[in-house]
Amino acid sequence: MPNFQTSALDKLDYPLTQGEAVFEFESSSSRGNKLIMTTLQEERFVLKISQKENGRYLVKGDKITRPARVSFLQKALINFRNASNAVEICSNIEPKNPLHVRTSPYLKGVEFFANDFETQDEIWIEIGFGSGRHLLHQAKKNPNIQFIGLEIHKPSIEQVLRQCELQGITNILVVDYDARLFLEFVASNSVGKIFVHFPVPWDKKPHRRVFSQSFIEESLRVLNLGGQLELRTDSQNYFEFSFAQMMCLAKASVHVKKNKDLDIISKYEDRWRRMEKDIYDVTLTNEISSPPISKVGKLKFSQSVDFKEVCERFTEEIFRGDGFFVHLEELFVVSATSGLIRVSFGANERNEKSYIWINEGNVSYFPDNVLATKNNVDADKIIKKWIYGTCN
Ligand SMILES: C[S@@+](CC[C@H](N)C(=O)[O-])C[C@H]1O[C@@H](n2cnc3c(N)ncnc32)[C@H](O)[C@@H]1O
Repeated sequence: MPNFQTSALDKLDYPLTQGEAVFEFESSSSRGNKLIMTTLQEERFVLKISQKENGRYLVKGDKITRPARVSFLQKALINFRNASNAVEICSNIEPKNPLHVRTSPYLKGVEFFANDFETQDEIWIEIGFGSGRHLLHQAKKNPNIQFIGLEIHKPSIEQVLRQCELQGITNILVVDYDARLFLEFVASNSVGKIFVHFPVPWDKKPHRRVFSQSFIEESLRVLNLGGQLELRTDSQNYFEFSFAQMMCLAKASVHVKKNKDLDIISKYEDRWRRMEKDIYDVTLTNEISSPPISKVGKLKFSQSVDFKEVCERFTEEIFRGDGFFVHLEELFVVSATSGLIRVSFGANERNEKSYIWINEGNVSYFPDNVLATKNNVDADKIIKKWIYGTCN
């Protein structure tokens, strides 16, 4: 990501316009970090200044508020460097080093599934598609199915998007999101198949496995009548664990096969076959129709708060609940009545990071796109108790 280092920065008079960028205000924390609220072509984001051990300042885009286009960050950093008369010691912000981030119409954020996703086609989901051999094969074989591929490994995502482009495949949407949390964005009874092929066995940390009681229950909710959740694994441990989880259901239709041949052999399967390992398939068929769920909205604050009083109470703190947490990380002060608190919160499996922006009594999440997932809602209740001073 674009950044530069310098040994000195002039103090700016805010608000200040330089080139296309408007620098609105600066806020500082007791750790010596600074945030600069920046607007460029109607996108609002934050530049971050931190002081390194060698006394240099590192100026970069803040990860939480990163604009969609890296070129915006480059422009903002160049304008900030010019406005503050900084002499760069090392830098990658000039356009001669343009930074490319692969974009594709088929790569979607969860916000898309929360707000905009609609299809008349049946959906099939593949979780942890890795090299994507199985996903690409199924998508070509079933052009009338809308595929959703979930993966958290970025090079695998890039590889599959490139293959979709090269092979002209248009019925796959790829999401970089933890599969254990994704299903709550999916409508009830809309999915024909969920493939989980060769998931990481996590023998020493079973709580990190994709399969759990709540994952199985959410899978059954999103599957249509006759829809199937299909696990394929070389791990006897994982097979027995998942089978036992399915057997905890009050009613279940489960089929087990050993060393079944598929049309396509994934990269992992290739490896296990060469090692002559056994492969287990467990298929759970859904036999119930589930009620619809409402769309996942956004979190909001409705009451005002006194920033001065919040400042007096602030200490870095972590609150833990059942499966979720809230971490109040750092307080940045703009003035006596305004500032930002950097927070991370949500499900233990996945950090949500945001700022709570208090400005003349008004409170909001910044950026204003925190989704009201189950764990975020639980975390938000704790945040509100803390902000409004009703925590005991
Ligand atoms: C062992 S590989 C198997 C890949 C592929 N299914 C195959 O058969 O070749 C497991 C894949 O699952 C992905 N993965 C692990 N945990 C995940 C999660 N919680 N959500 C989505 N993907 C995950 C990993 O990044 C990895 O690519």
